[in-house]
Amino acid sequence: MKMKFVAVAALFVVVVTGKPFDYNADPDDCAGYNACHPVYDDRLNVHLVPHSHDDVGWLSTKDQYYYQSVQYTISTVVKSLLQNPDRRFIQVETAYFYMWWADQSQKTKADVRQLINEGRLEITNGAWSMNDEAAVHYQSTIDQFTLGLRFVEDVLGKCARPRVGWQIDPFGHSREHASLMAQMGMDGLFFARLDYRDRRKRNSDKTADLIWSASENLGNSSSIFTSVLYNHYSAPGGFCFDIRCGDSPIVTDPESTEYNWDTRVKDFANYASSQSNNYPTNNVLITMGDDFQWTSAEQYYTNIDRLIEGFKKFKPTINSKEINIIYSTPSCYAKAVRDAVEAQKIELDVKTDDFFPYADTTNTVWSGYFTSRPTSKRLERLANNLHQVSKQVGAISGRQFDVKNKLSQAMGVMQHHDAITGTEKAAVEKDYHRMLTAGMETATSDISSGLSSLLGLESDLDLKSCLLSNISICAEADADQFHVLVYNPLARPVSHYVQIPVDDFTFQVTGPLGLVIDNQVTDPVRDFSFVSHATRDRVLPKILIFKADNIPAFGYQAYTIDRQSTVSSSSKEKVMAVDEIGFGEDKNVKFDHVGLIRSITINNVTSAKTSGAYIFRPDTLNRDAIPLGEPETTILVNTGNVVREVKQVWNDWVTQIIRIYKDEDYIEFDWAVGPVNITDGFGKEIITRYTTSLKETDGVFYTDSNGREMIYRKKDYRPTYTYTSEEPQAGNYYPVNSKILIRDEQNEFAVLTDRSEGGSSLNSSEVELMLIRALLDDDKRGVGENLNEIEYGAGLVARGSHFVTLGDIAKGNGEVSMAALERDIAQRKLLQPWVFFTETVPPQSEGSLLDHSLPSNVHLLTLEPWSDNAILIRLEHVLEKEEDPNLSKEVTVDVSGLFKTFKIVSMKEYMLAANTPLEESKKFTWSQVGEEDASSPLSKENRLARDEADLNITLAPMQIRTFVATVEFASK
Ligand SMILES: *[C@@H]1O[C@H](CO)[C@@H](O)[C@H](O)[C@H]1NC(C)=O
Ligand SMILES: *[C@@H]1O[C@H](CO)[C@@H](O)[C@H](O)[C@H]1NC(C)=O
Ligand SMILES: *[C@@H]1O[C@H](CO)[C@@H](O)[C@H](O)[C@H]1NC(C)=O
Ligand SMILES: [Zn+2]
Repeated sequence: MKMKFVAVAALFVVVVTGKPFDYNADPDDCAGYNACHPVYDDRLNVHLVPHSHDDVGWLSTKDQYYYQSVQYTISTVVKSLLQNPDRRFIQVETAYFYMWWADQSQKTKADVRQLINEGRLEITNGAWSMNDEAAVHYQSTIDQFTLGLRFVEDVLGKCARPRVGWQIDPFGHSREHASLMAQMGMDGLFFARLDYRDRRKRNSDKTADLIWSASENLGNSSSIFTSVLYNHYSAPGGFCFDIRCGDSPIVTDPESTEYNWDTRVKDFANYASSQSNNYPTNNVLITMGDDFQWTSAEQYYTNIDRLIEGFKKFKPTINSKEINIIYSTPSCYAKAVRDAVEAQKIELDVKTDDFFPYADTTNTVWSGYFTSRPTSKRLERLANNLHQVSKQVGAISGRQFDVKNKLSQAMGVMQHHDAITGTEKAAVEKDYHRMLTAGMETATSDISSGLSSLLGLESDLDLKSCLLSNISICAEADADQFHVLVYNPLARPVSHYVQIPVDDFTFQVTGPLGLVIDNQVTDPVRDFSFVSHATRDRVLPKILIFKADNIPAFGYQAYTIDRQSTVSSSSKEKVMAVDEIGFGEDKNVKFDHVGLIRSITINNVTSAKTSGAYIFRPDTLNRDAIPLGEPETTILVNTGNVVREVKQVWNDWVTQIIRIYKDEDYIEFDWAVGPVNITDGFGKEIITRYTTSLKETDGVFYTDSNGREMIYRKKDYRPTYTYTSEEPQAGNYYPVNSKILIRDEQNEFAVLTDRSEGGSSLNSSEVELMLIRALLDDDKRGVGENLNEIEYGAGLVARGSHFVTLGDIAKGNGEVSMAALERDIAQRKLLQPWVFFTETVPPQSEGSLLDHSLPSNVHLLTLEPWSDNAILIRLEHVLEKEEDPNLSKEVTVDVSGLFKTFKIVSMKEYMLAANTPLEESKKFTWSQVGEEDASSPLSKENRLARDEADLNITLAPMQIRTFVATVEFASK
């Protein structure tokens, strides 16, 4: 029996290798869905999906995993696929595929292209990593898909374009991620983790296959078939044939004492049968694989081959239905379900909210990771900020796309669901930081050479970034004179309050055109001198603040800073009892006699009450947070004309500066927390809670989804299943990527963040955000370490900012609605003007790479090097439909003549990840969701009707449009 089987397999090899393949053929020549093994209406179709889940770092680093395991997985899978054309495999993480590809011979590369063209090896997801969905920002998600899919397209061609998203391990699922997948043209999205009550309900209702209508603004273009895996992503119990599993192999020789073929087939049929009771069509998907499995692929495949063969021999039935068991892929499953739905007029469940937070059982809510490792989460945002600057300058200066770009790769890895989440081991976190920092250094020098050449300079500006300025380290600023170049990565002018750590002096700041600019010297939020023991760098005692006014769109301003006298004037302003700070009746913060906030006023609205720091003790389940009490001291630190500040000191490890800027629509809460005091032997989570005098908010609040659309939240409530409140705090926490808000009929109170944090509104009219966690017990979810972060030889100190604003919902600041005002702040914080230090000031002290700016509701989301004379451009409408009476309308921008260094000749529209031209997209549409009106810029016909030379681009609210622009550089 065994011999015969091998002979058959060998015969197939001869057949398939005989066919010639043009890997760059038209996608219509790709096997595509034709590669799917046939399914039958009258049978139960069992889709076996071989896969390996390969984290780009978790318990080990990315490189450790690659060299210990993943390289063998891909190599052995490819060899085994070539043995039998029936076999299938999905390749997911492109960061690993990229490493592997570099090591392969021309012969192996040709084999892989053939397997791809024939649909035997399928790229699935295909992003650099399998990104998290709670703590990521959409800009970084889009970038890491673009990078991964670009590499795949370059080396494998069109047939490698992934057709589905495969998000099997992230801990809960965001609506925005589903929307982005749909906008990339994916036909389906698969995942495993959702609330245990939701899973139970979906299994009993047969709604684990559903349509996710993932945007309130984008209609069908954001709808995607979504399938929840039945039992996580492992193989069914007893059927793990991996070299690392001990399950019995399938033995087909009846003479053998180990013979088990018939019983194994029967057991598997029973498993498939129970699963089919919970799904809406006659298709079930069964995953065959797990974390870092398939390193010895032939072992796994041999057993699956025999299992499939056994079904043919023993013909088990389910409810008198035959079973059609096949090698398959998630996309083939999606196609089969879609065909069944259409043929049998099955209505799928339509989902419009998201899958957060995730609870795997009672009392186990995965919402802590929304905050875990807060300094990693901040570093990722800074890296994104610099990454965008680097891509912009690169594109405008004619740099080429380079898959080896260190920062692009590091950002791709950092989006991984054990990286940005903080769920990795401490040593792996250090490795992520190493990659990001190296990437940021390279990006800084790329920007330096790019800007120098754009400005026509003879010598390089030698720009430097002060990456430790948040802890008051910056050697460049520790000098009698230094220069900074402030670069604005937004396509509209912005003003920015620059903060630089400095020594204790007074300063003269000279800006563009030689103008002397008002400045102030102030104290940092806390003393960071403890850091110098570990770094040996000098920690500077003061902060210099000045306003860089009206920095041009995609432009810069240069400043020169000179030391003057040795005693900074404003440090004399300190007084102990503070009643009030601010700039008049319209913008102020008032304090009570114990130093807590009594009220804030901004945008002509006053809210009474306080904010304060609170502590959760995770060991005392379900107890509300304990207030940290009154600050030990509240000090007025600054009453200058640029900024006015009060410092609240609760104790040695919790301090905050409340900062009001002369010309800002927000009040900044600059907080520093840590090392969290755990001398009592208990872990703690520190939150800040803002109490407002808004009218009863009835448990309703709103959080952003990955920085884009807002989602309605209600305490102790889930829109699609019955919620049981075993976890009154953790179960009500949601990811906050940039904003959380509450409102009554009149006013809105919003807190914007500088990184992802967990947030909630546990009591009426309150908003809270978790800042840092120090836990002494492992949560028993695999990482095997507690989350008590150590940095610089001591418990972690985290520092960050909240930007708090308040106002009339519709009237906002009198010019735009609160929503528009908040979107503006969010953008200015995400893509903050970047402060470079430079040895020399360029002759022009101010300049712009754009001819003119874009309107405030249009964001130039991406400008990046693409290929010879081609640049990738994404334009985004940044408001939702109902957010602003004027700015929420459709908007048209004319981008001809927008850039100074090149002329756009034509723009070809692509799906969001820029791998598939819009005209080649065949994404499933769902009649249940409805088509777009043909006159809407959301409709595909409408977008395709545009002539490529027509550079007037219309955007609907929240729409992102992706173009590869053919350009002519003036100098070339
Ligand atoms: C500020 O609010 C008051 C009422 O509270 C109103 O009379 C006044 O017109 C408002 N001013 C502005 C500039 O909106
Ligand atoms: C830490 O807490 C303990 C009480 O649990 C207290 O005695 C000690 O002073 C605190 N240390 C700091 C630095 O706040
Ligand atoms: C684009 O818009 C400009 C006005 O902004 C107009 O002059 C031009 O004709 C438009 N081009 C096309 C091709 O519609
Ligand atoms: Zn994982």
